[in-house]
Amino acid sequence: MTCKLAPSILAADVACLGDQVATIEKAGADYVHIDVMDGVFVPNLSFGIPIVKGLRDHSELFFDVHLMIADPIEHIRDFAEAGADGITVHSEACGDKLYDTIIEILGYGVKPAVAIRPDTPIDPVLPILDKLSMVLVMTVYPGYGGQKIITDTFAKIKKLRSIIDEKELPVDIEVDGGITLENVSEVRSAGANVFVAGTQIFEGDITDNVNSFKSKLN
Ligand code: DX5
Ligand code: ZN
Repeated sequence: MTCKLAPSILAADVACLGDQVATIEKAGADYVHIDVMDGVFVPNLSFGIPIVKGLRDHSELFFDVHLMIADPIEHIRDFAEAGADGITVHSEACGDKLYDTIIEILGYGVKPAVAIRPDTPIDPVLPILDKLSMVLVMTVYPGYGGQKIITDTFAKIKKLRSIIDEKELPVDIEVDGGITLENVSEVRSAGANVFVAGTQIFEGDITDNVNSFKSKLN
């Protein structure tokens, strides 16, 4: 399965966000991962719709929008119209509206994904797997960059990969949180194929960092 690198701009220098996105694009990143936090579903606040819209005219990258917000179904239209290519919602934030939320995303021609926190089992995604483009297995508790990876989550990645492969579904598995050059190969072996990295990409030389990750994912 093809591996993709998705730098998270949560760790970027927001004073020159457009330039930073141009740098990862030129260096060969596949996606740009945009973390949206509402201070309710997670304690932190981050980017919103204007950032997605503002960057859209300056980048051809796949916009991988990770919604860490309560009741995401209310905001799908705005993110789709702002230019999201993929929208990820948390199963814990959707309650009994998870299926409807995925249908809403599909209705805008956007690729839908469901995220699960480290303490959430894979069960909620299984009945809707054939509707999804991706499952995001969080490898840290959502809300902050720069945390240490929780390796207990690898068992869920393995289980999910075996189910997806057995059903022959074209569903990617993304991992997000604490991904480093040291652990990325192990996470890949567990079955992930889309890798989010924030601090490890934007601290130091961005182009070198993208190249180092890409060479591990070839
Ligand atoms: C955390 C966010 C992540 C974050 C990852 O809630 O979803 O995307 O930016 O940052 P690192 O790679 O620094 O752990
Ligand atoms: Zn994220």
